[in-house]
Amino acid sequence: SAAEKGGWDSYMDKEIHEDPAAVSETLLGRFDAKGTLNLDEVHIDEDVFRQVDKIIVVACGTASYAGLVAKYAIEHWVRIPVEVELAHEFRYRDPILTPRTLVVAISQSGETMDTLMALRHAREQGSRVLAICNTQGSTIPRESDAVLYTHAGPEIAVASTKAFVAQIVAAYLLGLYLAQVKGTMFRDEIRHIVTDLKAMPEKIQWVLDTQADTIAKTAKQMLNAHSFIFLGRHVGYPVALEGALKLKEIAYTFSEGFAAGELKHGPIALVDAGEPVVCIIPSPRGRAVLHSKMLSSIEEVKARGAFTIAVAEEGDESVANYADVTFWRPQCPTLLSPLVDVVPLQLFAMDMSVLKKNDVDKPRNLAKSVTVE
Ligand code: AGP
Repeated sequence: SAAEKGGWDSYMDKEIHEDPAAVSETLLGRFDAKGTLNLDEVHIDEDVFRQVDKIIVVACGTASYAGLVAKYAIEHWVRIPVEVELAHEFRYRDPILTPRTLVVAISQSGETMDTLMALRHAREQGSRVLAICNTQGSTIPRESDAVLYTHAGPEIAVASTKAFVAQIVAAYLLGLYLAQVKGTMFRDEIRHIVTDLKAMPEKIQWVLDTQADTIAKTAKQMLNAHSFIFLGRHVGYPVALEGALKLKEIAYTFSEGFAAGELKHGPIALVDAGEPVVCIIPSPRGRAVLHSKMLSSIEEVKARGAFTIAVAEEGDESVANYADVTFWRPQCPTLLSPLVDVVPLQLFAMDMSVLKKNDVDKPRNLAKSVTVE
């Protein structure tokens, strides 16, 4: 009913606008006065965490993209390999699991059968499983050794939005916790990142407050596009995958995300005059090489006549030369940028879906949680 949607046009609309709260609630109460991280629902011995020498994330769809974002951060902070595997592929390839492997199952619903089967397999092989889950008491957390709950609140729309940003935050907390117990980071560095994380809800809010009009206008302009290409590098790559998935799910528009570096290895042949390419541009204040490589990607597709949509950092003037439209987001550290970069893509998919008169919350052929294999 309209009342349940709190005045929003759809659950998805409501839930996108809950992105800031999903981040702040997931961060709440994890740190004591001294800045020590406590994963309150996690009951695995600190010693066990100290011994972890590999992480395997198992998940499906959007949750797997959150895992892919976390891979960049956790490998950088903790210096152990992080593999991200689609849960349905994991079990059938004889994965290498030891008691020192930590399997992280990420699931909004906690009922995804593919993910559940993967975690059962991991436990049978003697590995420990930590669930990152949004649903209290659901099957996946019940069958895991530990749980880190995302506090995004119930997500009703089939297309996942606020759960995604909350999953990234939870996986980052796990990474920082591991860095703390393994001593791979100084306490001050951890504290610094936590401060940056706490600033993210306000930055997401800024995107919601200032970019909606440009996004709506662009959706109208792109209504008859045949297909969308999304390009990103580093943490922008999973954001590209997620942006493409949202459009597939609710706008029913063929779209695909690619790592920008792959462009010349094939996908550039798809670029067609007037057809949209969405480019996630990293901060120019971050690693210069990431920014300049992504700029050459947008330049290449622009030169071939693509309609270019950039997601870029406020103040990045270099983008103006290549972007037909820019969705701006505030300055933030590169590793945290997916939390803001994904927001305009969520709004964009929703606007496209509404304009096409699709059922935004209940897209055709899809279920909220896939409880069959
Ligand atoms: C996201 O928009 C999708 N509906 C889907 O990919 C979803 O993320 C996937 O099925 C995993 O669901 P879960 O998080 O409940 O396990």
